[in-house]
Amino acid sequence: PAPGWAIDADVVVVGSGVAGLTAALRCTAEGLRTVVVTKALLDDGSTRWAQGGIAAALGEGDTPGQHRDDTLVAGAGLCDEEAVRTLVTEGPDAVRRLIATGARFDTDDSGDIALTREGGHHRRRIAHAGGDATGAEISRALVTAIRDGAVRVIEHALVLDLLTDEKGRTAGITLHVMGEGQHDGVGAVHAPAVVLATGGMGQVFSATTNPPVSTGDGVALALRAGAEVSDLEFVQFHPTVLWLGPDSEGQQPLVSEAVRGEGAHLVDASGTRFMVGQHELAELAPRDIVAKGIMRRMQEQGADHMLLDARHFGAEMWENRFPTILAACRAHGIDPVTEPIPVAPAAHYASGGVRTDLHGRTTVPGLYACGEVACTGVHGANRLASNSLLEGLVFAERIARTVAETHAAGAAADSVRPAGPAAVADARPAGRTGAPAEGGSRGPVPLLVPEARREIQRIMTNGAGVLRSAASLDEAAEALEALHLSALHDAEEFDKAAEPGVESWEATNLLLVARVLVAAAHERTETRGCHWREDHPGRDDAGWRRHIVVRLTPDRR
Ligand code: SIN
Repeated sequence: PAPGWAIDADVVVVGSGVAGLTAALRCTAEGLRTVVVTKALLDDGSTRWAQGGIAAALGEGDTPGQHRDDTLVAGAGLCDEEAVRTLVTEGPDAVRRLIATGARFDTDDSGDIALTREGGHHRRRIAHAGGDATGAEISRALVTAIRDGAVRVIEHALVLDLLTDEKGRTAGITLHVMGEGQHDGVGAVHAPAVVLATGGMGQVFSATTNPPVSTGDGVALALRAGAEVSDLEFVQFHPTVLWLGPDSEGQQPLVSEAVRGEGAHLVDASGTRFMVGQHELAELAPRDIVAKGIMRRMQEQGADHMLLDARHFGAEMWENRFPTILAACRAHGIDPVTEPIPVAPAAHYASGGVRTDLHGRTTVPGLYACGEVACTGVHGANRLASNSLLEGLVFAERIARTVAETHAAGAAADSVRPAGPAAVADARPAGRTGAPAEGGSRGPVPLLVPEARREIQRIMTNGAGVLRSAASLDEAAEALEALHLSALHDAEEFDKAAEPGVESWEATNLLLVARVLVAAAHERTETRGCHWREDHPGRDDAGWRRHIVVRLTPDRR
């Protein structure tokens, strides 16, 4: 659709979690005219749901080197070591700057930041706030700073596509704003720098810890703009999500790793601690190992969940240390003080995303990415717990410095054209591994109807969830292709294209990222990190110590 209105800026930040708001605050501090656009309200993204905390070598005796080692082990051979070094060395100061911005972390009796443990960490290095409401506190502090500052914010604004100039450089975005007033409808923000901080894509699966807004919009936009996307097959399933029954769908309550960090035990229905003996860290092994341990036990016993037993914490500790989780459990009729909590793995975090360098630069000039939407290389095949908030902070700050150095204030590109229509193209890997994973698909398609979302989620959960095989992935690929062809057919033959609107664009974005994810998961014929192939149970370092990078060719965008 043609933009009905336009505004100018030096930089536009898309998304309002820890990464987006940090980028916006720091860009403003650099003197850049900054606009934040966000799909719902400023605090509606994933950040405010983060419980456990933010990892950084802040404790006595801890060092960035030890944090690096734990991150590399969790990442199962696919981390970019330079990106990890950047994360862990710049992390402690980035947390201190977050505190200076207004975030209040829990402290111990001596007034130092209280630190807990989570899976894969050999030390207590997770700072937390409000007990188990770390993300909510970070979000509160950043939103307050944004509201108090000179940042222009457009809420209820779904970004459609990137604008580029004749040389292929970023020139802004088109967006659809839902609401009243000056910026209603389809418009544009013209800016030479665009920072994608749109978060994850958990809504591609039926059950996820992610909020409804996490629909892979940034990855879909980047693909349509011709940017490289990497590691999409590495979807992290959080081991302990409150199990609400076999048919529960959508966002599910998280039971933080920190509960295990403080000594909770994973047990089966007979009360046996099944993680003991599977890994030296037992319940605190990296989360892919715990998720697999739970899934295996569920398979062996024909169970649909396991139990997390923390009755020994007692009422006072539950109330003080984990008030959010306690309230969520009680709201669902479970009292963790007197009974074990039913848990099962659910989709939690996309370790892959839009490929960037150490300055957050994507492969499209002027397009940056940070936070969950990005693939900076720090997570490899499996993100270490509580590294995500830290990654958002560190790389957002780096982007602000780079944007300030690269794009002179007020320098807008003169000739602007859309990089791609607000419609999807086929997912075809064009990266280092070469061969397209899908054949026979046709080009750009019209929007999907909103109802397609549930169908995509069902297909992905059945075929590309925790356990994958060539057969399950083939089935998923075929079903997704059928959705794509049916949308194409309806539009071409019956003139029945979906009405443009947020829900149809979200479904369209979900289909694009789902197809790329399935193609990558099919291509990676090994088990590594959080990618678990039943038909290829071993890790294959000779064949697969490399990344699957995807870029859509122009005819497919
Ligand atoms: C949790 O609190 O368990 C989540 C931490 C994370 O995903 O990093």
